[in-house]
Amino acid sequence: METIKQALEKASSLQKISDTWQLDSELLLASAIEKSREYLFTWPERELADTQLRAFQEFCERRSAGEPIAYILGRQSFWDFELKVNPSVLIPRPETELLVETALELLEDAYPGTANILDLGTGSGAIALALAANNDAWQVTAVDSSAQALAVARENAESLQIANIEFVQTSWCDGLEANYYDLVAANPPYVQEGDRHLLEGSLPFEPVSALVAGDGGLADIRTIAEQARHCMQLGAWLLIEHGYEQKLAVAKILADAGYKNIECVLDLAKLDRLTKAQFLS
Ligand SMILES: C[S@@+](CC[C@H](N)C(=O)[O-])C[C@H]1O[C@@H](n2cnc3c(N)ncnc32)[C@H](O)[C@@H]1O
Repeated sequence: METIKQALEKASSLQKISDTWQLDSELLLASAIEKSREYLFTWPERELADTQLRAFQEFCERRSAGEPIAYILGRQSFWDFELKVNPSVLIPRPETELLVETALELLEDAYPGTANILDLGTGSGAIALALAANNDAWQVTAVDSSAQALAVARENAESLQIANIEFVQTSWCDGLEANYYDLVAANPPYVQEGDRHLLEGSLPFEPVSALVAGDGGLADIRTIAEQARHCMQLGAWLLIEHGYEQKLAVAKILADAGYKNIECVLDLAKLDRLTKAQFLS
């Protein structure tokens, strides 16, 4: 028999893999015994049942092999909600909340009533859900080429009871309505093939199709810039998340595609994370 405190002490072997190993082990144990983290601090001397201990040990083994906490727990916080995730979707990043904030700044004053919003490459549905939840008069189209990703996004919409989203399986803007959207948001794959970052952190566990793009990481951004303008109403904004070294390349792609008012937005770490551009003619 082991107590909660003893089990957590043994998990110190996670130090090899994670700088946040204490938090990781608390989250894993809380999930293994289906209690909150607070419960662990309140009842450190409580003994664990064999099945609970085995479940915790299995979680720790997966974490030791590098698997991200979000995939082990099957959930990830984003914006002001929690999303179901599995290895068919990218784990939503805090940086992507900048895209949501920027979209809301553009939408809230201009579209207090209805607006048509497009989220390209929705994955778990993170961006689409955050925007749709803000105003139920807004109608969001969430696109992904992956049927498995769309199944996760749909499940998230159902559990958050967000109904103003339509999910569409297609490649970027193929088959979408012309001259329709007031804002297009995209967090596309933008990592260059063979980039050393693909071997680090959670990336080896995430879908390659969510991460990697040809043409030095710019192929999907180029396609989106070319296609999205046909779906956008005059005056609509396109927001694209990109790598922090891609600002100039993305600005050129957008300018070549005819967008105006091109501006890069910095994230909290002062990195060039996102570019917005307007479709005016
Ligand atoms: C970087 S992930 C972004 C996921 C989510 N929007 C987020 O921010 O957490 C990119 C997404 O684009 C999707 N994707 C890749 N190629 C696509 C294509 N040709 N058409 C539509 N979606 C695509 C992937 O399946 C993946 O879900």
